[in-house]
Amino acid sequence: MNYQEIRAASQIISERTGRDHHDVALVLGSGLSEFAASLPDAIEIPYADLPGFPVPRVAGHGGSLFSAEVEGGFVLVFAGRVHYYEGWPMDKVVAGVRTAVMCGAKTVVLTNASGGVNPGFAAGDLVLISDHLNLAGINPLMGTNDERLGTRFPDLTDLYSQDLRAVVRSVGDEVDVDLQEGVYAWFSGPSYETPAEVAMVGRMGGDLVGMSTAPEAIAIRHMGARVLGISLCTNLAAGISPTPLSHEEVKEVAALAKDKFTRLLHNLLPRLVAAEADQAV
Ligand code: HPA
Repeated sequence: MNYQEIRAASQIISERTGRDHHDVALVLGSGLSEFAASLPDAIEIPYADLPGFPVPRVAGHGGSLFSAEVEGGFVLVFAGRVHYYEGWPMDKVVAGVRTAVMCGAKTVVLTNASGGVNPGFAAGDLVLISDHLNLAGINPLMGTNDERLGTRFPDLTDLYSQDLRAVVRSVGDEVDVDLQEGVYAWFSGPSYETPAEVAMVGRMGGDLVGMSTAPEAIAIRHMGARVLGISLCTNLAAGISPTPLSHEEVKEVAALAKDKFTRLLHNLLPRLVAAEADQAV
């Protein structure tokens, strides 16, 4: 989606919600989109109602966004995302997060399911993404740069905001949710990685492997908003896991982790809204 289409989508969202801005956005990853149903009085907008917006096709992903009031602020929640491996061009892969930032979100929380490479991680762990390795060989900013979105060569030094990670850690302590931290290696998928690729990631300093998030993070930062990445490690990555990988296992582990994931997010969102309100973080 180009600048005009993103603007048009954000205008439809403000008309349909009666909210002229949103403060924070949240993208729900594989098996995690049920969180949206736990938001009281959320206003649902099917992606299909937004011209040009990509509608997810993969099992385990929804296809709507929700606008909810949280502690006097407004949060935009995307229940389901589209992936590069589905064949979508990059501008569609990042259309949702660009629309969110166009709606005013200064913080975007990206969640996903991933495979654990770090031997200290176990299935079911929640991991704060500290940085990423782009191993997919593509970047959402390739092509003509639209200066209205951001600069040609954006800096990614603090891509996954260190300050926001500290906020998540303190919320985790308060609500008794343990958090690991690690570097996310992005592969295009849809096949899972080979054991050799997983071993390579380990040697390169990666802790997780996955098929999303990195392009969205780049597009968000390009527009000047802050990124938080929270990954649910649903399995040990190929060659580390003693058993073959399956999407069923990913969904099962996501379902088991639902309670702690929900607890963390319900307590985190008000803090992020407050942080945006007073710019204190
Ligand atoms: N690899 C890539 N993506 C994933 C994995 C994995 O092992 N688990 C869940 N998403």
